[in-house]
Amino acid sequence: MSFVPPPLFAPERNVATASGSSSSGGDGNASSSQASGEKQPIEHITTHEQYHNSGVAASALPASPIALFHTWFAEAKAANIYAPETMTIATCTAASPPRPSSRIVLLKTLEPSGFTFFTNYASRKGRELEANPWCSLTFYWAGPLHRSVRVCGRAERLSTKESQAYFDTRPLGSRIGAHASPQSQPISREDLEARVRDFEQKFGVPGAAGLDGPKETEEKHIDVPEYWGGWRIVPDEIEFWLGRENRLHDRFRYTRPTESTKVAAEDTWTLDRLAP
Ligand SMILES: Cc1cc2nc3c(=O)[nH]c(=O)nc-3n(C[C@H](O)[C@H](O)[C@H](O)COP(=O)(O)O)c2cc1C
Repeated sequence: MSFVPPPLFAPERNVATASGSSSSGGDGNASSSQASGEKQPIEHITTHEQYHNSGVAASALPASPIALFHTWFAEAKAANIYAPETMTIATCTAASPPRPSSRIVLLKTLEPSGFTFFTNYASRKGRELEANPWCSLTFYWAGPLHRSVRVCGRAERLSTKESQAYFDTRPLGSRIGAHASPQSQPISREDLEARVRDFEQKFGVPGAAGLDGPKETEEKHIDVPEYWGGWRIVPDEIEFWLGRENRLHDRFRYTRPTESTKVAAEDTWTLDRLAP
């Protein structure tokens, strides 16, 4: 039998919104258990799992970390890792003191020059990358691989042409969603859905986002919003981590000068083994 998650909010948990009005959509500020100060137990998670990979010698690695990433990504797919393109991107404000934040996004292309993903440029991550392009990606591929990759580098915006080309591959409903969602801004579910219906009307595709159930809608060209598109993370450091027994893991770090303007896959990289 498949797992059915419990409902996130029981109806009585709906509380006043930030503006003070009550909400029927579960968009409240805090759950009732937080408000009443209910004590939660400490959960101990101590599995001490061992990772049984055989070792890798630095001499067996390719000169290019982009080549090694291609190999590891192919091996993650071959091992049936669920969505191996899932990665965490950490960004950092330009303010003082700098404040980092991270979230999950999906790798869309691995190019000779870097790693691309797509998002709303006005989102929290988008605004942070605009102000401070230095960022970091982390991939984690669990058992049976027990591998992780960290990428550090600088983000650059893709061109509108590149973003439009990717946008055109998205399902119609997702394209409407990109127009309608002011990502990272506070919004009620009602306002979000009203915006979705407005954009469906504007583009002449009523029901395309499926708010009233699945609907066959005629294909339409839709311009990518000017506040939405891709970023390319141009790496200057890529680290490959392989879990081994007793936490004596293998770690290999490739670095190149931060100021290098060469295409990553064609550059000369320094390779170091790091202590686990
Ligand atoms: C599996 C998964 C994939 C996601 N992929 C993306 C993505 O490719 N682009 C994106 O903008 N958000 C994606 N999200 C949502 C982000 O994690 C995040 O909630 C959103 O981008 C807003 O982040 P921000 O407020 O830090 O900018 C994904 C979330 C999950 C769980």
